[in-house]
Amino acid sequence: MSNNTIKWGILGSGWIARKFADALAVAQNCELYAIGSRTQTQADLFANDYPVSRAYGSYEELVQDKDIDVVYIATPHNLHLENTLLALNNGKHVLCEKPMGVNLRETNQMYGVAAEKNLFLMEAMWSRFLPHIIKAKELIDAEVIGDVRLLTATFCIRSENGPQHRHYNIDLCGGTILDIGIYNIFLSLFLFGKPENFSASATLSEQGIDTNCSCSFVYPEQKMSVMYSSFLADPEIVASIHGTKGSIELEHLWFCPGALKLKNKNGNDQIFSFDVKGNGYEFEAEEVAKCLLAGKTQSQLWTPDDSRLLSEMMDKIREQCGVVYPAHDYN
Ligand SMILES: NC(=O)c1ccc[n+]([C@@H]2O[C@H](COP(=O)([O-])OP(=O)(O)OC[C@H]3O[C@@H](n4cnc5c(N)ncnc54)[C@H](OP(=O)(O)O)[C@@H]3O)[C@@H](O)[C@H]2O)c1
Repeated sequence: MSNNTIKWGILGSGWIARKFADALAVAQNCELYAIGSRTQTQADLFANDYPVSRAYGSYEELVQDKDIDVVYIATPHNLHLENTLLALNNGKHVLCEKPMGVNLRETNQMYGVAAEKNLFLMEAMWSRFLPHIIKAKELIDAEVIGDVRLLTATFCIRSENGPQHRHYNIDLCGGTILDIGIYNIFLSLFLFGKPENFSASATLSEQGIDTNCSCSFVYPEQKMSVMYSSFLADPEIVASIHGTKGSIELEHLWFCPGALKLKNKNGNDQIFSFDVKGNGYEFEAEEVAKCLLAGKTQSQLWTPDDSRLLSEMMDKIREQCGVVYPAHDYN
């Protein structure tokens, strides 16, 4: 950490790694320093497109680079535990893509090692840091829409990838719940906390991953969240929160930077829009940089307990839906 700049190493060179690298170009106090890939060829391809100082052909070499402050884990779900522990055991702070672990046991293990080593660890739940999501929470907490009765949230992408792709591959812990349904579940937990009760059902592929999933959370005072995710259909990806005095609508691609519409019973709509300088991933990167520069080992905005609750609920939902990852037992 020099001159208030955090040096990032990215572990894995796929789709999200590139988005995150774009964000680092505009994120305050952040420098994209190195890429680590399983192969030198992929590392070099990434280095052709992004201004990295180092391009490593193995994850081991990446985490051993003494100049890297924090490693961003951008690999499939089944590898988050292994890759995060590799970075932590080499003394690196970590931002790990969602979901943190495949289950609560893994998530606990990851935070346990980070605490033991006094290193920073956070789940990259990027929507938590977006201005319109923060505004929605503020409006709800201030009771601007009265008593909240219903949240509806969808996240569906028609995925035409083959059975080996991480969306569908059971060995890579595919399925909508961990991949995209997680955002709906996050939103409900972030806005309302842990539900009193829940129910879930899913359609399963031949491999046994969930291809469609619907779930609902029941809260005290007749409040409810209804959520669904799909790899087979592509309705609009929207979220709305309805209260006794009005409602909040988050537009298509609600989990990305966007606008928020506040509606009241008189039909007066108010639109809140926000300045965003990059693709939105810069907000989580800046939160990590802020924490590291302040010497913190966890974020107060997305805490280890927040990740644990998210893992716990996804375990319960998967259990009810019958989605089992053979190599990743719950216990
Ligand atoms: N926050 C978001 O908006 C967002 C969006 C999409 C995905 N994600 C998350 O980001 C993570 C990666 O998703 P992605 O869409 O970037 O996936 P991806 O394009 O398939 O990239 C994953 C990378 O992981 C590495 N890898 C290591 N072992 C692998 C294996 N057995 N099979 C495939 N790849 C392997 C590869 O990099 P090397 O070849 O360089 O080693 C690969 O390029 C997941 O946790 C996903 O949930 C988050």
